[in-house]
Amino acid sequence: MERTFLMVKPDGVERKLVGEIIARFERKGFTLVALQMLTPSKELAEAHYGVHRDKSFFASVVAFITSGPVVAMVWEGPDVINLARRVIGATKPAESTAGTIRGDFANTTEQNLIHGSDSAETAAEEIRLWFPNL
Ligand code: PPS
Repeated sequence: MERTFLMVKPDGVERKLVGEIIARFERKGFTLVALQMLTPSKELAEAHYGVHRDKSFFASVVAFITSGPVVAMVWEGPDVINLARRVIGATKPAESTAGTIRGDFANTTEQNLIHGSDSAETAAEEIRLWFPNL
């Protein structure tokens, strides 16, 4: 049994896709363990995307993620880290296939609705960062 960190980004909240997104993970058989809606601080956003600190898009991704409320969640299930990313779809719109969340609803790399941890190590770090009391 694994846990992963998933976050509906500000565009997903704005577009009223929170229910649609949560439903997809529930239908896949995963269990929602924790959820909070918040507008992330700059400090939290910079820590979350810290691995991208030297990338050209760092300021842009921090600005985007702090632009409005997000829905931060912890989900549990067998192989959930890998399988949740398959439900989410690829980062680049041209690579995200129909049937995935991004393939069905997103058309840019920036406003791509949802974040999912990419490894067991990242999942543990992100869960600690967003849910320190869990
Ligand atoms: S990389 O260089 O391949 O590791 O980066 P990539 O996987 O393409 O993107 C990492 C995350 O940054 C987001 N991103 C952006 N957000 C806002 N604005 C811009 N310009 C931008 N470029 C990339 C991208 O959606 C990835 O977000 P997460 O939440 O990790 O999926």
